[in-house]
Amino acid sequence: MKKNTIRSLILIATVIFLYSAHAQASTNACLVCHKTLPQDKIDCVTDCWLRSLHKQNDVTCDSCHGGDAHIAIKNMAQLSPQEFAKAKALAMSPAQGFIGIPKGMTMFDVCGKCHSDSVNRYKNSIMGKAYLDDKGGPSCTDCHSPHYVIIPDVPKTCKKCHKDTTGFDQIDPMAVNEATVNDLSKLRIKLAEEKVKGKEPPLFPKELGSFQIGFVAFGAVLALFIIAYIIYLFIEKRS
Ligand code: HEC
Ligand code: HEC
Ligand code: HEC
Ligand code: HEC
Ligand code: HEC
Repeated sequence: MKKNTIRSLILIATVIFLYSAHAQASTNACLVCHKTLPQDKIDCVTDCWLRSLHKQNDVTCDSCHGGDAHIAIKNMAQLSPQEFAKAKALAMSPAQGFIGIPKGMTMFDVCGKCHSDSVNRYKNSIMGKAYLDDKGGPSCTDCHSPHYVIIPDVPKTCKKCHKDTTGFDQIDPMAVNEATVNDLSKLRIKLAEEKVKGKEPPLFPKELGSFQIGFVAFGAVLALFIIAYIIYLFIEKRS
């Protein structure tokens, strides 16, 4: 073979190798299979994840669930039931670190790999403890949703479990402790007082300085004079 032919063969082989390596790195077997599952639309797993900030930052299915996202997977529609089961077992293999659905402390550990500050803030809070002790406290994903991680709407998200959400927009929901509860009850008393006072508004708003009050008083006296003068003219005319 000529030198040139060997060179081009090597070049072609390199291109093919790099292309397939790239294709393998960028296909996510979890995503490929899961978006075909009937349950997927109900749980909004893949659709939500595809629109998420996590997707934009390469936080993939296996970042949270473990397993092997890089198994080779053929056209889903052409897989036999055996091939499907094999692909599923390979990807979702505990030997590859698959943990299934993270719950309790495991969820904190999973999120904590990248959000240790947020986890520490929440772990020691009243609600964080109520979650870990299985006493109805919200999990990270009750507030943020598991696959579309958003900053939740306060107080809308809180209404799922709390009747009175007054003042909830003034606290850090991830660090609710004894002090927060105290602040909250002070705030609620203050708001209740303001509501009562609000029924009899003061004669002059507090913000008005003495100069403005004087000015308004002067205007009022002037207006009275004008009215009196008009009445005087009216009576004068009739008599
Ligand atoms: C070939 C198809 C296929 C592949 C590939 C696949 N899954 Fe699954 N997965 C399923 C099916 C089907 C279920 C439905 C529940 C079951 O049978 O366990 C499921 C269930 C799950 C569950 C819920 C488990 C539970 O306890 O309810 C999680 C989490 C999950 N998969 C994550 C992953 C991750 C992460 C990957 C990639 C590393 C992956 N899957 C790859 C088919 C697949
Ligand atoms: C940021 C971490 C994270 C990522 C990334 C993630 N998941 Fe999940 N996933 C969770 C958590 C946490 C739950 C449990 C939700 C709950 O119970 O509140 C869950 C639940 C599930 C379930 C069970 C159905 C449900 O909604 O409860 C499936 C199936 C699943 N994930 C598959 C996937 C697939 C496929 C991907 C990639 C497209 C993925 N997950 C990406 C954290 C993640
Ligand atoms: C592999 C790393 C990684 C894991 C694991 C992870 N995240 Fe993230 N998360 C990120 C990155 C990167 C961003 C985008 C940059 C940022 O805002 O910090 C992000 C963003 C977020 C945001 C949006 C913050 C904002 O400002 O809008 C929330 C909420 C969030 N993650 C919650 C979670 C929860 C809950 C879990 C566990 C179920 C989790 N994350 C697991 C890396 C991760
Ligand atoms: C009760 C609802 C609630 C729970 C439970 C919750 N969060 Fe949050 N989280 C919020 C709200 C609201 C914000 C935005 C305001 C703020 O920063 O306090 C937020 C902010 C964040 C952010 C953005 C950065 C930051 O710290 O402000 C991340 C990341 C995050 N949460 C992750 C988590 C993780 C991980 C968990 C579980 C350990 C968790 N959250 C539990 C409501 C919650
Ligand atoms: C999944 C249910 C759930 C959700 C959602 C939830 N909480 Fe809670 N919350 C609890 C439980 C359970 C407690 C603990 C009650 C106790 O032990 O006193 C609690 C306690 C609190 C407390 C201290 C006690 C009190 O009632 O004043 C505050 C403040 C609080 N939550 C704020 C919030 C805010 C803010 C949000 C929304 C961002 C929120 N919660 C969402 C379940 C929830």
